Amino acid sequence: MEVVIVEDQAAAGVLVADIVARHVRPGGVLGLATGSSPLPVYRELIRRHREESLSFAGCRAFLLDEYVGLPREHPESYRSVIRRELTDHIDIDRVDGPDGEATDIPAEAERYEAAIKEAGGVDVQVLGVGTDGHLGFNEPGSSLPSRTRVKTLTRQTREDNARFFDSIDDVPHHVLTQGLGTILEAGHLVLIAAGASKAPAVASAAEGPVSAFCPASVLQLHPRATLVVDEAAATQLKLADYYRYAATHKPDWQPF
Ligand code: GLP
Repeated sequence: MEVVIVEDQAAAGVLVADIVARHVRPGGVLGLATGSSPLPVYRELIRRHREESLSFAGCRAFLLDEYVGLPREHPESYRSVIRRELTDHIDIDRVDGPDGEATDIPAEAERYEAAIKEAGGVDVQVLGVGTDGHLGFNEPGSSLPSRTRVKTLTRQTREDNARFFDSIDDVPHHVLTQGLGTILEAGHLVLIAAGASKAPAVASAAEGPVSAFCPASVLQLHPRATLVVDEAAATQLKLADYYRYAATHKPDWQPF
């Protein structure tokens, strides 16, 4: 795993946008995450689309997860969020996400897995991390080879996400999420984390044991994983000096 410590969220956004942009081409398959962490990335991609003719024509995208039971048109459904924050502002061809309104949730999970496979798999997957170490909506305890399925949110995640709703009572209890095994099949995993509240999860993900207790630690199992963190999220990293040294001395020919 490559850990990159950057000054702030804006710098993280530019770096992750650079990585994503390498996969923006006809036939490219992007894995998109919601939450506030990737927003600087999406703002930068929109800017490049508008100002530098970065075209997403011929690209497809798959979302990581979705709330179960939240109407598709609800402003906080992840399909609405990704439209508002990114895909309405670029020329991407098709965006798919798990359908949280499906009457048969296990069948929908199977459909989603098949759709990703049929598209040829995800080339680059953008990720955030929950304060409890969740990846997508794979809460602590998620099995490492898990596939798309329903999960029950922890109290902590519902409290964290209550800021997007009128009250915590409006945050759904259940979600459909790509499994950890599904996520691990993407070609390149790029996790972005910012702020002091993410520091413990970032340290566990990068330097703790690989464990279902910290689902984001599965990044350690992937041959191409990049963790981009701002200074505040990096404070508990034991090898922070080494990561900075490695970035400073990175060979010109080696892209992030
Ligand atoms: C949400 C999403 C995750 C996201 C995480 C962190 O619940 N399901 O994909 O990475 O929690 O969110 P944020 O980036 O807003 O801190």
